[in-house]
Amino acid sequence: MKLLAGRSELFKASEVRELLKLTEGRKIISLAGGLPDPQTFPKEELAEIAQEVIRERGESSLQYAPTAGITEFRKELTNFLQRKDVKVDSSDSVLITTGSQQALDLISRVFIEREDVIIVELPTYLAALNAYTLSHPQIIGVPVDGDGMRVDLLERELKKVYAKGKKVKFIYTIPVAHNPAGVTMSVERKKALLQLASEYDVVIIEDDPYSYFVYESGVDVTPLKTLDKEGRVIYLGTLSKILSPGLRLGWVLGNHYVIDVLERAKQTADLHTSSLTQYIALEAMRRGVVERTIEKARQVYKVKRDVMLDSLLDHMPENTWWPKPVGGLFVMVFLPSLEIDTRKMLTEAIAMGVAYVPGASFFSNGGGWNSMRLNFSFPSPDKIAEGVKVLGSLARDKIKTPSKPITPESFYGM
Ligand SMILES: Cc1ncc(COP(=O)(O)O)c(C=O)c1O
Repeated sequence: MKLLAGRSELFKASEVRELLKLTEGRKIISLAGGLPDPQTFPKEELAEIAQEVIRERGESSLQYAPTAGITEFRKELTNFLQRKDVKVDSSDSVLITTGSQQALDLISRVFIEREDVIIVELPTYLAALNAYTLSHPQIIGVPVDGDGMRVDLLERELKKVYAKGKKVKFIYTIPVAHNPAGVTMSVERKKALLQLASEYDVVIIEDDPYSYFVYESGVDVTPLKTLDKEGRVIYLGTLSKILSPGLRLGWVLGNHYVIDVLERAKQTADLHTSSLTQYIALEAMRRGVVERTIEKARQVYKVKRDVMLDSLLDHMPENTWWPKPVGGLFVMVFLPSLEIDTRKMLTEAIAMGVAYVPGASFFSNGGGWNSMRLNFSFPSPDKIAEGVKVLGSLARDKIKTPSKPITPESFYGM
């Protein structure tokens, strides 16, 4: 008898994850993960709140809680979101999740049946791709450029799918400070996306962990959720980057009908998200700790982003290209030679003391092999400069023939 279910095959550790494991416990400059800088964690304030919450509200904070989340926290969170211009309709509900990763997993299980078509961006968030893949969808990738998802190409894909008599289950997008591409969707694109979603009657999953970290003025960060008049956007958020990922707190906001189903799916996964961390987050929000953390982190990350951009200019081979991230925690770097495979290069980079994530991991269409995602939130400015220098010299060694500039369009595998 076969012991494990067929789907267990899909939990295979990726080659890249195995390689990155080699960096654990070693003095490596990691430009790989998406870890917040620990100096942004409000340790003293959280320690004080945690004491109070356990001592004074222990009968609730140490107890089981409703699957949807602690009512007081959901209310406080709704106020917080509204202050950040996220529209909450009277027909909406909020579900508290164990990080927004759980929301991605629940969405995969609740929405996708085998062979259903879903649309993601090229590139997109790796762990979302992994969560969706478990439900065996047909995944279509639509390239992004400096203004976010190419809505003209999206329309072409939608037409193709509908011409075959199929429907698209949902479009997954990270409109602001995209992970990994660093780009932000323009207002025109957002409107065009909502218009297309309406014409083709498609749900939009809007993943928004980074809109609090925009480093340039004049960037419009209005969520699709706020522009949506038809209740078709499901909005995902998280405290991971704006307070602490260790609390494991995320949320899904959307039409109560969908939220009810997600809540039932969550019940079988973990009954509810930690009551203790919800009470801690509730107090942190009430006391303005989250807002202060955002302010501090934004300043720290802007400095680090600029160090990374300067180092790239100093060290990368000619004709290397990277979209300047207006926000978020990453720079996606495209090397100028199509012969360079950044998965192979990673082994050498690790041997030289630097880790990154090869770009191909973020492309559902097998593209992006000459790209890499570099994180700037975690390493110190000195380490960022040192790491980029190492990667630059490694890349220069690999480029035997001087290459012609490659247009941004060709980088994204169109
Ligand atoms: C785009 C995106 N979505 C979701 C997540 C998941 O975050 P968490 O589960 O910590 O809330 C991340 C984390 O890096 C992310 O970048």
